[in-house]
Amino acid sequence: MDLRPAALLSLSFLLVWAHGRLTHEGSATLPIRLTVVNKLANTSPQAFSSSVLEGGILVSALRRLQEANQRFKFTVIDNPNFGLFLESVNGVAGSDKDKTYWELLSESSGEYTRLSVGVGCYQPAANEHIVFNFTTW
Ligand SMILES: *[C@@H]1O[C@H](CO)[C@@H](O)[C@H](O)[C@H]1NC(C)=O
Repeated sequence: MDLRPAALLSLSFLLVWAHGRLTHEGSATLPIRLTVVNKLANTSPQAFSSSVLEGGILVSALRRLQEANQRFKFTVIDNPNFGLFLESVNGVAGSDKDKTYWELLSESSGEYTRLSVGVGCYQPAANEHIVFNFTTW
């Protein structure tokens, strides 16, 4: 019995599958805006642009931005139960002692909405304006 055609067929399926997975074919790239606000330190807001694939998560836009722009750095903590938690932005980290953290907001027409999930789950919409606001709890 010649298994080659079957093997070739499954190989091509695998390649198509892998290609689709890697490039996420069909997904549009959505531009987003990001503003970093720290009123507690009295610094002026910093505005950035990034992008995310349709259905992609916010942390991927942050990684893309960090690779492209020296002025943006961030760190996350991977909580086994709750996923990725934004720990620091541009060297400023939330602290239990000071009761500070980076609040995740979405702004539209001057209205701010708190994101209900973290950077590892949130899926930004096209042209969404995300605001990281350093604040206290
Ligand atoms: C951002 O944080 C500052 C400082 O805590 C606070 O005064 C302000 O209301 C926050 N902004 C929004 C939109 O929640």
